[in-house]
Amino acid sequence: MEQLIKSIGQEVRAFAITSKESLENFRLKFISKKGLIPSLFEELKGALPEEKKKLGKELNELKQLAEGKYRSAQEETENTTDKPHEGIDLSLPVIPNKLGNQHPLSLTRYRIIEIFERLGFNLADGPEIEDDWHNFTALNFPPNHPAREMQDTFFIEKNPDVLLRTHTSNVQVRLMKKQSPPIRSIMPGRVFRNEAISARAHCFFHQVEGLYIDKNVGFADLKQTLYSFAQEMYGKDIKIRYRPSFFPFTEPSAEIDISCLICKGKGCNLCKHSGWVEIAGSGMVHPNVLRHGNIDPEEYTGFAFGMGIERVTQLLFRVNDLRLYSENDIRFLRQFRPVLS
Ligand code: DAH
Repeated sequence: MEQLIKSIGQEVRAFAITSKESLENFRLKFISKKGLIPSLFEELKGALPEEKKKLGKELNELKQLAEGKYRSAQEETENTTDKPHEGIDLSLPVIPNKLGNQHPLSLTRYRIIEIFERLGFNLADGPEIEDDWHNFTALNFPPNHPAREMQDTFFIEKNPDVLLRTHTSNVQVRLMKKQSPPIRSIMPGRVFRNEAISARAHCFFHQVEGLYIDKNVGFADLKQTLYSFAQEMYGKDIKIRYRPSFFPFTEPSAEIDISCLICKGKGCNLCKHSGWVEIAGSGMVHPNVLRHGNIDPEEYTGFAFGMGIERVTQLLFRVNDLRLYSENDIRFLRQFRPVLS
């Protein structure tokens, strides 16, 4: 009998209770009236008197072991159900997770950066809160000259020397002072102008500035660089033209137009029926600007350009209202995917 108590003890320990059903099986097998342990108590009655005490003690220990295991397993299984999926219809289709996507202006910015990086330009950055000198004076805007009014500026009332930059050209002289030529950089960023908001204008928008300074840089380099860019961005059939213009910080200056992608040059609302759309201002860096950046204009020349990211995006994705970019309407924002090279 001693042997039997031991082996039933082992069985009790090894019995795995994982559900309400196995809990009940455990009870029936070991504890219930007809179970193994009560039947051992029956047997004990017929044991030899000198063995009874020892066997009785062992049997009681076995009983406590089995009842203890039963009670703790009972507590554990109480709150669980044998059918964990009850009440859930597993055949229902899943609700897909919504993936976020990048803002169209970011997509365009990355694409512009990618193209210019392949042309050997690196990335540079400058402040959005700027002083008058970097935004205007260093760029050869004379004091009180109407050229300053070309760009309606947000000034800080308490200190009119501080302003929100009106263009990314503010980074040009900062870069020249930090680095000696050759400089070949693009500077994307946000710019601000005090303008009434409409489909065609906003009080803030985005530009990419480009600057290339080295020995013997000429207008032909400017033309070919921007032509290569336009072809990469919009396809080999794109046409490009340079219109004489004026910027205080370049001489000569030119505005860059590309053939309208919407009407393929036939004339539409976007190109104001001219067949051409302006994408950038550009020119050869003015000697005064080079001097402000501590670069000798006798030794070095350079070209610069400033491109509107909204405009480039508009042509890429056919968006014709500038306000959409900053309204945060998810129905608009969800429609854009990266432009592949
Ligand atoms: N900063 C000019 C603007 O915002 C654009 C521009 C024109 C940038 C000519 C340049 C440039 O670098 O050379 O209208």
